[in-house]
Amino acid sequence: MNKIRKAVIPAAGLGTRFLPATKAIPKEMIPIVDIPMIQHIVEEAVRAGIDDIVLVTARHKEPIENHFDYNYELDDILEKKGKKDLLDVSKAVGGMCNLIAIRQKHPLGLGHAVLCAESAVGNEPFAVLLGDDLIDSEVPCTKQLVDIYEKENASVVGVMEVPASEVSKYGIVGGMMLGPRLMEVDRLVEKPASKDAPSRFAIPGRYVLSPSIFKCLRETKPGKGGEIQLTDALQLLAGRERLLAYQFEGVRYDTGDRLGFIDATLAYALKRPELADGVRAVMRKHLGS
Ligand code: UTP
Repeated sequence: MNKIRKAVIPAAGLGTRFLPATKAIPKEMIPIVDIPMIQHIVEEAVRAGIDDIVLVTARHKEPIENHFDYNYELDDILEKKGKKDLLDVSKAVGGMCNLIAIRQKHPLGLGHAVLCAESAVGNEPFAVLLGDDLIDSEVPCTKQLVDIYEKENASVVGVMEVPASEVSKYGIVGGMMLGPRLMEVDRLVEKPASKDAPSRFAIPGRYVLSPSIFKCLRETKPGKGGEIQLTDALQLLAGRERLLAYQFEGVRYDTGDRLGFIDATLAYALKRPELADGVRAVMRKHLGS
């Protein structure tokens, strides 16, 4: 069985790059326009045909779970006031997915967060989506990777080409090109210096993995930053099973970074017909043109 039914979304990080906003609010709840970042991510998974979302959370992250539940009080008031459009918006989020929340009790790294999801995922392939990366594409990035997994029956990481000056910010893959966008991976390095990078193909935070990754994660020792790195476990996996990298189609925004967040906010606002003209006028005012 190689159908992808589950997605793991690690969301247990502290979000320190967004302090003070993240002191009391999970970073994932900060909106891009009026949709929380985590909803954009869940929508990508749902559009890829996935219904079960395994959210790896931590203390103070309850607002994420509440967001994907029904809010009867709000819905009741909206109904009584005849605000049908808003009622539909609220209810649609409540019914969007089946959410399974698991606590990562110590922030031991992204690899450890994925390992925390093992009991909810079981022995089947699954997707991983990181909330800091927003990917705008016609075919959802996760769907592009699911299609590769189901065709090739092999784990696949989404990659994008970055300038040499930026390889030290990402996990970087190396291997043999099988086609214009597909690579057979034999090497992965977490945040290499540009002279040590095996390529300029970086992993921004989309994966479809075979369940063998869990054994690899258990065997992975803490790496960069003293954290259990998913990239190190993927290196182990590549020695045991086929691992592919696919250069996905789409525009990626690093919403974990302040400038990337502003970039995404403007891009998503300009795509909204009811906001686009107003946003252009506001930008002209600020740019003095
Ligand atoms: P980051 O380190 O980029 O995110 O982890 P962060 O900790 O939330 O943010 P900063 O760097 O302090 O601003 C990448 C992803 O892995 C998750 C994070 O929630 C984020 O989605 N993560 C990281 C965990 O779930 N657990 C961890 O122990 C570490």
